[in-house]
Amino acid sequence: MKKKILVTGGTGYIGSHTAVELIEDGFEVVLIDNLHNSEAEVAERIGKITGTKPRLEVFDICDREKLNDFFQRNMDVSAIIHFAAYKAVGESVSKPLDYYWNNLVSLINILEGMKDYAVPAIVFSSSCTVYGQPEKLPVTEDAPIQPAISPYGNTKQIGEEIIRDTVAANKNIRAVSLRYFNPIGAHKSALIGELPRGVPENLVPFITQTALGLRDELKIFGDDYDTPDGSCIRDYLHVVDLAKAHVIAVKRMLENKNKHDYEVFNLGTGQGVSVLEAIKSFERVSGIKLKYKITGRRAGDIEKIWADPSFANRELGWKTLSSLDEAMKTAWEWEKAVRKKN
Ligand code: NAD
Ligand code: WQD
Repeated sequence: MKKKILVTGGTGYIGSHTAVELIEDGFEVVLIDNLHNSEAEVAERIGKITGTKPRLEVFDICDREKLNDFFQRNMDVSAIIHFAAYKAVGESVSKPLDYYWNNLVSLINILEGMKDYAVPAIVFSSSCTVYGQPEKLPVTEDAPIQPAISPYGNTKQIGEEIIRDTVAANKNIRAVSLRYFNPIGAHKSALIGELPRGVPENLVPFITQTALGLRDELKIFGDDYDTPDGSCIRDYLHVVDLAKAHVIAVKRMLENKNKHDYEVFNLGTGQGVSVLEAIKSFERVSGIKLKYKITGRRAGDIEKIWADPSFANRELGWKTLSSLDEAMKTAWEWEKAVRKKN
């Protein structure tokens, strides 16, 4: 019988790509999402890609009663991948309580549910934001956690601590926190992808929207950093590569291959890419000359960060397969497809 995986935030950007990979790997998938930042139609699109439409339950995970009701009807959930969270860094500074409430209460409810309904395994969406500006690059998992720059980042740090302590106190629960670097791109079908509401905060959707004429020009936030071309450096990985790591992490726990009850992995390519290099990649794959200008630095930006993914490479047998150009190409195909539809 197929093992059932609960994917919270399952109609969101990374959740939807992970649902595809899970279904294609033979799992039954059920999605929960309150559609705060996504659309129900994404479940149909996952169905179009895989031939199996996952069931979507629409409710807020902060609602403990609704979540309990879900678990009562789904006593056979084998593992949870918990994506559901608010993720806009800027908004988290102006609405900290919304972020602490949503990201932490939802996590606590999920963990309570795991205890009450004997769900043994969880994968948590963490972030490279927990490292702040690391002293040593590439950054390894044992690098010191820095004081969070935003309430959003703090919810990831606190979330990891809540999980660590819960696993320590409950011998039947195991967990993996995955610290994502910068996911970009979309499924090759161009049926699912990143769909930010309003003005995008992240670089790649801003680039693709500018190229389509939805934004006048991209502002590059600073060219006076201590980097080879002066712009900030990040580690951009293809969202499908990222999604595949979740399938591996789930199987590792379900097959008792984990070495510790709580494990943490960096997920990145290991390559640092500057903002200007990312733009060049986009221009190469799209054939479009992007309109951009250099402006001042963005408050709170990290100068440079990229992953040392060797622990995930070794322990999970996972590595990124797509190049930056391939990821950019899929981001561009998705942007064009989604605007045609809307
Ligand atoms: P997303 O906004 O596309 O997806 C999150 C989904 O969760 C959305 O569909 C939203 O409607 C849903 N959701 C939020 N709160 C909910 C609640 N209380 N109940 C039910 N559903 C709820 O974001 P994403 O980019 O797919 O990110 C997924 C996870 O990965 C998040 O936890 C995010 O913090 C983390 N993460 C993202 C990035 C990134 O750059 N995208 C990087 C590091 C970590
Ligand atoms: C990338 C680079 C910008 C937009 C965010 C979150 C972090 C994590 C990943 C979730 C930076 C530059 C951007 C623009 C620009 N998410 N840029 N003009 O900064 O790594 O972090 O996503 O956990 O928590 O903070 O990603 O895509 O916002 O920016 O020049 O219009 O592009 O300065 O150097 P970042 P990003």
